[in-house]
Parts: sequence; C-alpha cells; structure tokens
Amino acid sequence: MEETTAVRHEAQTGTRFGTRRQGASAGWARRQLRALSNVDPALRRSWLPVARAATVVTSPTKAWLLGQPFVELPDIGAFGEESRVRVDLEPFSGRYGAALLIDNQLDVAHFAYLHRDTFASPDGRAAPSREIVRQLWGFETKMTVPISARNDPAVAPEDHPVEQDRTTRYRYLAPFSVELELTYPAMGGSNVIVFFVQPETAERSAMYVTLLLEQPGGFAPDALADRVASEHRVVGEDLALQERFDDLAMPLDVTTECHVRVHRASLKLRRVLAQIVHAP
Ligand SMILES: [Fe+2]
Repeated sequence: MEETTAVRHEAQTGTRFGTRRQGASAGWARRQLRALSNVDPALRRSWLPVARAATVVTSPTKAWLLGQPFVELPDIGAFGEESRVRVDLEPFSGRYGAALLIDNQLDVAHFAYLHRDTFASPDGRAAPSREIVRQLWGFETKMTVPISARNDPAVAPEDHPVEQDRTTRYRYLAPFSVELELTYPAMGGSNVIVFFVQPETAERSAMYVTLLLEQPGGFAPDALADRVASEHRVVGEDLALQERFDDLAMPLDVTTECHVRVHRASLKLRRVLAQIVHAP
C-alpha cells in the first residue's frame, strides 16, 4: 500500500525541511526535501552569474564556476547574431529570492493578471498547452501566446491589429538562467531576453537582463528607446509582485504548494533544483 506523508518544520533560518515516507516498496526510505534559499550550500556546486551576463560569451567557462561545478554555462546563440541590437539593463537588485525570480519568468499563468497594462491580451486568460523537453540541468519549451501588441508602432496607424500572436521559446538552465525568445509574426522580428540571477545574501538577489532585439529595418533611436522602456515596464510589473513575498525560499517538495496543470514548467524547475540539492 502506498502511503505518503509530508511534515514541515523550521530547521534553521531560511531553510525548511520536510521528511517524506516514500511507501513500503521503497523500504520506507526517508529523504529530506528542503526549500532552496539564496544561500543554500548546494549552489556552490553550480555556476552563478557573478558578473554581468555580458561576459558570458567571452569568459572561459572555468572562470565562472565556484567549487566543483556540474552545470555548464548556457550557450546563447543570439549573443553572436550581428542583426540584433544589444541592450544591457541596469541590474535589478533588491529583496528577492533567486529561484523565485526565475520561476516568475517561466510562468505563463501570470500574464493575464500581472501584465494587463502592458502586453496581456484578454484572449490569453486560458494558458496555452506546451510540451516541455527536458535537457541536462534544464529544459526547453515553446508555445504561442495571444498578446496585445501595444509596442507595435504599426498599431496606431491601423496597419496591424493590436491583438496578435507571439511565439515564445523558453530555455532554462540551472541554477538561475532563462533565455526567452519572443517572435512576432505580425510585427516581424524577435526579441531574445536573457535573464541571469545572482543570489547575494539570504534576502537579496540581483537580476541581470540583457535584451537582444531585432526587427525589420532595424531601430531608429526613438524606436529603440520605446522598446527598452516597454521592457522596463514589464520587468517592473514582475518585480512589484516579487517584492511582496514574505518567504524568499523555493519549496522543493512539490506537495508544499498547490500546483495545477499550467505550472508544469515551475514543477520541472523545482525538480531540476532538487537534483542539484540532492546530488552526491
Ligand atoms: Fe512577467
């Protein structure tokens, strides 16, 4: 008979532990499932973005690694694409949980309630289905999302409809990076947005955001400034929610939170991070 119990208690500041019995077939094996804080010792065994994401493509991998690493740096092709305009936003530093910042970027369910003033479309309330392809220490997923393309300059003269589709590709690599490719079939062009998060203390993290932008005809200075301002507004909407969290650690026991089908990427994120925590 399968019997599962989960018990949580505060074991030490910033770290929660739970104990799960995995059933008779597992010999009542007990394993600890903890919440991942910014200062979890397991993070020492994977790379962290200790400097600007800018140097990812120029620094030798070893220079980025702390201790004995087992996660390689992401290889992001858009950094080398000459057609793209690169903009490094000023780092966003504050009272943030590193894993929670990444979870936010992977979540598609928040568009409808958090980004109503920027790109969320009324047609996007039902989250799209998506396949998730697991990779070593990460995963990739792609979907089409309805958006309100208020940042499309062709909307005002009614050359394009405001309601458009956007193809979104996410690539997550542990511990704290997301490469996001946003392709706009109606507007043309695509944005690649690279997020690296650096935990700084138990209660602080810095998020480094690099925009790699491309559109037909390139960007006039005003158009580029408008696009960057638009991305700032979107990030600001995300961070306003993150700043309201009391607990900055991410539960790795997936029974701690109430997950639904649309959280598949979030569940995968927790499982990848749990792999790092439990690696021998
Ligand atoms: Fe968001």
